[in-house]
Amino acid sequence: MRVDATTKVAAVIGDPVTHSLSPRIHNAAFAAAGLDWVYAAFTVRAGDAVGAVHAMRTLGLGGLSVTMPHKAAVIEGLDDVEPDAAALGAVNCIAWDGERLVGANTDGEGFVAGLRADHGLDPDGTRCVVLGAGGAARAVVLSLARAGAASVGVVNRTRATAEAAAALAGGVGGVVDPAAIADADVVVNATPVGMQRDGAPTDELPCEPGLLHEGQVVVDLIYHPLRTRLLEEAEARGAATSNGVSMLVHQAGAAFERWTGIPAPLEAMRSAVAEVTEGSPKS
Ligand SMILES: NC(=O)c1ccc[n+]([C@@H]2O[C@H](COP(=O)([O-])OP(=O)(O)OC[C@H]3O[C@@H](n4cnc5c(N)ncnc54)[C@H](OP(=O)(O)O)[C@@H]3O)[C@@H](O)[C@H]2O)c1
Repeated sequence: MRVDATTKVAAVIGDPVTHSLSPRIHNAAFAAAGLDWVYAAFTVRAGDAVGAVHAMRTLGLGGLSVTMPHKAAVIEGLDDVEPDAAALGAVNCIAWDGERLVGANTDGEGFVAGLRADHGLDPDGTRCVVLGAGGAARAVVLSLARAGAASVGVVNRTRATAEAAAALAGGVGGVVDPAAIADADVVVNATPVGMQRDGAPTDELPCEPGLLHEGQVVVDLIYHPLRTRLLEEAEARGAATSNGVSMLVHQAGAAFERWTGIPAPLEAMRSAVAEVTEGSPKS
């Protein structure tokens, strides 16, 4: 990669941000697409999100990814916000539309694209259960409802956040008992339960594995480890499974396409993730 006076710069802003996989994914994508772009990571403290958006205008950055704690705060500095990001109150990607800066949330779009790519599954008409009600869960709930799911049930330990997440699915959303998992076509773990910490394996499960069975698609949004115990238990019972790499790659692909206007080189992006996730406890 050669960086010179014509190179366009994209970046992720957040705090902490030094663990982010985004620079690897996007630099691999720019290289594979033959684009004179480079992607960096900037630590931006809480309270400075709007300043970072102003910097994007001043410096003419080609695109920004946004992570914690700025996903809500950047909205104030933008000219426009796409409908999904507005509904979620969270932006993870900022792109140019002419002279205007537009915020998007590509997580849900990435999740549904991953389901289609991995399983040829269209959520239209499916019964879905999402475990968790945080940022990732909310994006998934909204995207499943937008894609025509027949029902989107939310299981979460805190009732109030579960209700708020389920409301994003409108008439097809609801807070459900864990027993509903047995009747679901698609089950998504959007809690951190099962995530590897400091390289130490974990045996934790976000739901009772006896509820999982053949005919279901079980997705764990976790990608450390690549195979959580939930996915092992689901596979042992005949369910089809995916880990969190698909959503990670496809949400990045959706950002790439907004920034560059060309199709994302998804295979190169997936390979870049594999280099750091396979056999490595650290990202
Ligand atoms: N693959 C991807 O691209 C991608 C993208 C984003 C996130 N993720 C993954 O998705 C997971 C959630 O991320 P997030 O950003 O949504 O987190 P978050 O906003 O902190 O939400 C976490 C959710 O999990 C629940 N939870 C946390 N600890 C729990 C426990 N011990 N038992 C039961 N429920 C628990 C929380 O319940 P309460 O409401 O009760 O607190 C909350 O609903 C993480 O593993 C993250 O790595 C993956």
